[in-house]
Order: sequence, then structure tokens, then C-alpha cells
Amino acid sequence: MNIPFEIFRTPATMRARASDLRRDGRRIAVVPTMGALHEGHLALLRSARGKADVVILTIFVNPTQFGPAEDLSRYPRDEAGDLAKARTCGIDLAFCPDREAMYPVGAQTFVEVRELQQPLCGASRPGHFTGVTTVVTKLFNATLPHLAVFGEKDYQQLAIIRRMTRDLDFAIEIESVPIVREPDGVALSSRNAYLSPEQRLAARALSAGLAAAEAACKAGERAAARLVAAARAPIEAEPLARIDYVELRDAEELTPVVVVDRPVVLAMAVVIGTTRLIDNRVLR
Ligand code: PAJ
Repeated sequence: MNIPFEIFRTPATMRARASDLRRDGRRIAVVPTMGALHEGHLALLRSARGKADVVILTIFVNPTQFGPAEDLSRYPRDEAGDLAKARTCGIDLAFCPDREAMYPVGAQTFVEVRELQQPLCGASRPGHFTGVTTVVTKLFNATLPHLAVFGEKDYQQLAIIRRMTRDLDFAIEIESVPIVREPDGVALSSRNAYLSPEQRLAARALSAGLAAAEAACKAGERAAARLVAAARAPIEAEPLARIDYVELRDAEELTPVVVVDRPVVLAMAVVIGTTRLIDNRVLR
């Protein structure tokens, strides 16, 4: 049975609808986003569509995950365009709250995954992941999903959300979707819109670094330091790029690795102009 498409603006109205759907025995999937949808987001929606009766897209540019010097005010916003794209993927409902609905005056409670949020992006973006886990908890409470879908593009975010779900006994399956890339290897990101044509070319250095490390790994290299050096080389050769970090870590615990003797993730953040881009690859 078809559900009439509807946009909800407050957690209470969203939850009332989700609660009715659950009572009718519907399986709900949620795909949380900050909008500015591209093919990466659409891949998440299509995956959700295949696994649930009701797909809810959430669009909320979450202020608590942006640092004071970050791009909150210039973050691209186009709700109508986003909803049109999402509806081609067959979403059923959208949850698009405003800031006041999500963080009423006086809100002072945060959800924090302590250790997994320390390294990598957590080190350069203090407070970022606390903002993410807090808002994702609130989005879960509003949409009451059986399943939530996230992208492997934000590898640390995915690891943190999996851990939070387990640690807090949320009855929600966390599903992940591989990174969607442009034909030249650059991972799709809403932030790619900030890049000038020259900077966009320079952004190829990230995936080139990952490919170089993967080739070295396939050729038998097991020393983390040498794999990281292989990944850094093409980025250091790119004058427009500045490395924030390139690190090899345990694929699950995100702890440092010296020798690759288990699944590891090579993760990086690189600043091009004023735009910070991230990318990663799991090496087995
Ligand atoms: P946002 O950056 O909009 O990303 C929403 C989801 O899309 C995330 O799960 C992200 O990993 C996924 N995604 C982005 N680019 C992708 C790509 N190229 N391939 C595959 N998946 C991709 O991540 C957030 O928003 C926020 O932190 C959020 C979880 C919504 C909390 O505010």
C-alpha cells in the first residue's frame, strides 16, 4: 500500500507518523543527510529502498557538528531540489526540521562515544563527532527506524555510529554503502561544490594516494609507515593540497597499526584552498 508523501518539521509529528507505521507492521529505514544531495546520497536511498517498506530521508544541517571556524553558514542548502532528486529514488517521507525544532532553547544533553572519536577527524575537529552522535540519536528517536543507512565515505563516523548503537542498545540495524566516486576517482561530496576547476583537478591526489598505497599493499608491503608514505607521495606532489592527516588504523577499533596483519583502513583528510576533503580505503 502506498504512503502519501509528506514532509515533517518537528520531532513530535515525525515520531507520531513513524509510530503509526510501526504499529501497522511496516519496516522503516532512515537515511540521515545534511542535504545538497548527490549520487552518493542517492546510493544510500536506493539501498534503503531495497531493504524496507518505508524510506525516510532526513535533511538537517546540524549546527552542533560544525566548529566555530567551519562552513555552517555557507553549507549548500536546496531543500526543493534535494526532495525532487530523492523522490526519483522512491523515498516515502522526509524529515526536515529547523534548528529550533531540533535544539530548543535550554537543550544541554549530548551523546558521546569517547575513544573512537579521539583520532583522525576527531583530532582536527574537536566536538564534531559529539554533534554527530547527538543529532543521529535525535533523528533515530524522531523516525523510529528498524534500519539506518550510512556511507563508508565518512568511515570514522560510521564506526562511531555502529559503536553508539551497540553501546546504547538501540534496536536499529546499521547498514553501510561503499563510497561513490566520480569517473576520475574523486569521492562525491557536497563540499566538492566549493572547489574551483583547478582545485577540483588537485582533489584527484586523494584517491591517487589511496590507489598507490593499495598497489604497494598488493605488492606485499606490510609496514604501515611505508604504506602511508606511498599514499602521501601524490598528495605532497600537488601544490594546491595540504595534508591534515594520512593514517593507517585498525579497521574497527581505529587504533594505530605498525604492521598490516589484519583489516586496516587508510584514512586521510586533505585541505585544498579552504575546503577540507576526506577519503579512505580498507586494505585487507
Ligand atoms: P552528509 O555529509 O550529508 O552525508 C550523509 C550520508 O551520505 C553519510 O552517511 C555519508 O557517509 C554519505 N555519503 C556522502 N558522500 C558519499 C559518497 N561519495 N559515497 C557514499 N556515501 C556518501 O554525514 C552527514 O551528512 C552528517 O554527519 C549526518 C550523519 C547526517 C549527521 O548530521
